[in-house]
Amino acid sequence: MERETGPASPQQEYPGLGHVVVVIPTYNEAENIREIVGRLRRAVPEVEVLVADDGSPDGTGEIADELAAADPQVHVLHRAGKEGLGAAYLAGFAWAAEHGADVMVEMDADGSHEPTELPRLLNALRDADVVIGSRKVPGGKIVNWPMSRVMISQIGNLYTRLALSFPVKDSTAGFRAYRAEVLAAKNLGGVASQGYCFQIDMVYRAWRSGYRVVEVPVTFVERERGQSKMSSDIVREALWRVGLWGVQARLESAKKALDRLR
Ligand code: GDD
Ligand code: MN
Repeated sequence: MERETGPASPQQEYPGLGHVVVVIPTYNEAENIREIVGRLRRAVPEVEVLVADDGSPDGTGEIADELAAADPQVHVLHRAGKEGLGAAYLAGFAWAAEHGADVMVEMDADGSHEPTELPRLLNALRDADVVIGSRKVPGGKIVNWPMSRVMISQIGNLYTRLALSFPVKDSTAGFRAYRAEVLAAKNLGGVASQGYCFQIDMVYRAWRSGYRVVEVPVTFVERERGQSKMSSDIVREALWRVGLWGVQARLESAKKALDRLR
């Protein structure tokens, strides 16, 4: 069951892009949610914020309700239980679409994504359909990640680029902006990714559909409070799904080549 709180808000526009909704998925982010929402609202006052909480046992959802009660541009989507990043984002995107969003933004709750960098992403979206806040283009960086996590990210991105033969350098990045059209229902059929491979899923779909994907550099700073939800299950899911998409793509191109010969 989903439940929504907060009064209807006056819609503001971001110059040249229209109505922007930033979706922040949360699971046990009680120590972080206040600060990130505050920083975001100060950095980019035009945007609307939707916290998509999976019934966090630490009370994140209740704190978000307080924030929503105090600010008509903050909303909360309460979901029954932890279903993964993918499901939370899909529900958040659907909410945003129903509320007239022209642009949807993804952002983590733990402060790893710097709200003052969001205008750079949005400005780049004027000439693109998807903008990735990338740690792997010149100027982008990762601060305070242990070597093990840097390695997983490097290997994961290399594996993805080889398996899918696609050019995006930071396809798991979680700070990004989409034109609403890219996330229209017709483009999201059959999305089943639950963990962080949801990020790869979204950008790979967009790229295959011919949308313009651009990477702009950002600095990702590891959280100071609370815990990452990264797990070996999340890595395993990404490995098998990306591998499967790669095989499917190769079969499809083989089939096209055969059809041409007939
Ligand atoms: N609603 C909901 N449900 N939110 C979730 C869930 C879930 O099951 N799992 C994680 N989140 C939220 C967290 O509360 C946080 O706001 C955000 O998603 C990112 O989770 P982290 O656990 O902080 O991710 P990370 O720092 O390990 O990983 C970051 O890097 C990954 C690899 O580049 C994120 O930016 C990921 O999105 C990214 O894929
Ligand atoms: Mn994090």
